[in-house]
Amino acid sequence: MPRVKRGASPTSTFVPNQRLPVHRWFRYSAGFSGGWAEAMVRAHARPEGLVLDPFAGVGTTLVAAQLGGRPSVGLEAHPFVARLAAAKLCWTGDAGALERAGAEVIAAAEAARAVEPVALLDAAYVPEALAELLGLRWAIESLTREGSVERQLAWLALAAILRACSSAGTAPWQYVLPRKQKTRIAAPRTELAAQLARMVADMRALARDAPPARVIGGDARTCVGIADASVDLVLSSPPYPNNYDYADATRLEQTFFGEVRGWGDLQAVSRRFLVRACSQHAAAERLSVPPLLEDAAVGPIAGELVAVCTALGALRRTRAGHKAYDAMIAAYFGDLGRVFAALARVVRPGGKVCFVVGDSAPYGVHVPALDWLGRLAAASGFALLERRRVRVRNVKWQNRKHRVPLEEAELWWVRG
Ligand SMILES: C[S@@+](CC[C@H](N)C(=O)[O-])C[C@H]1O[C@@H](n2cnc3c(N)ncnc32)[C@H](O)[C@@H]1O
Repeated sequence: MPRVKRGASPTSTFVPNQRLPVHRWFRYSAGFSGGWAEAMVRAHARPEGLVLDPFAGVGTTLVAAQLGGRPSVGLEAHPFVARLAAAKLCWTGDAGALERAGAEVIAAAEAARAVEPVALLDAAYVPEALAELLGLRWAIESLTREGSVERQLAWLALAAILRACSSAGTAPWQYVLPRKQKTRIAAPRTELAAQLARMVADMRALARDAPPARVIGGDARTCVGIADASVDLVLSSPPYPNNYDYADATRLEQTFFGEVRGWGDLQAVSRRFLVRACSQHAAAERLSVPPLLEDAAVGPIAGELVAVCTALGALRRTRAGHKAYDAMIAAYFGDLGRVFAALARVVRPGGKVCFVVGDSAPYGVHVPALDWLGRLAAASGFALLERRRVRVRNVKWQNRKHRVPLEEAELWWVRG
């Protein structure tokens, strides 16, 4: 395993991926390190053993498994993110065909207009840049065949440059900050050509037979599509119970491709499929806390969960915003309990599971997620092998009162 320095983790950050072939094709801040994942695959999966990532994101584990010589499968419930992962897995395709298709697209693209104005796009782009990007989108859709490797990769390339071409501040995480203007704005045509050139170069450099890898647009809570006792190693990072809204992570990109018109569409288009790990989700589903606490899936942690949710409920009534952290936390652990039950079905006896995950402190109430996930895993038949601290995280919650530093760790289990 890599040595982990405090404060700078090779495990849980996407940053090193920006220099790694294929991993660098789309920056997903929720992603973890491809180099670390590849080392873990080589060390912990048998040569022909199937690797599963039930929270596949943009496919870091799957690409790492391919490069590490193991077959793999991923589940990703966010449809747009699953599509990004599926496109990345096309890296084994014909680099020359992508090069030719890309050149044709760039030569043919003419400035195009949005059918209707969309507020986020108007705030994020100067009109000329938006017209050029829309023209490139039109050229990709007209000149490449639906479902082809060239279409998927050209689409990915365009999705990957949207933030660089925006004049508004686009934070590494999901947010678009229209009032913050960038000094360096990339020109769409030039940026797309550069992105395609990087992709073609990576495909040529890696050209080799890779073991099969696929991503299913599916749910980790059921693992439908994964055969019983078929998995050798699970390598994954689930959402943390810390109020990140994954539905919002690709809002700019989904708006550009016409999948959503605004924030209000996110629940229907993606959030409803996800593990409930943010207060927006709890609010959208109008979750009521008592039934969540009686859910059999949280049985192993019920006493402590009730205490934490009661404290959060009391604070909710006193705080502006009235965030539904109590419902979010109760729903989150029920969902993760179901994930472990599903993993118990698909992991072979003796197979390993590694989760990179962190605890949290909404409204300053410490939620010991690492301990609780351990108890949920144990209830589904997983024995803890190791808890390896990755880093102590800065505490995001402004109004915290707790004194426990937040921890992020690799949790390793073996299936009994
Ligand atoms: C921490 S990120 C994982 C990122 C991944 N390790 C990578 O490198 O790209 C968690 C992912 O889980 C996905 N997700 C949330 N709920 C899910 C569910 N019920 N089933 C499958 N995936 C889910 C989110 O959309 C998000 O992409």
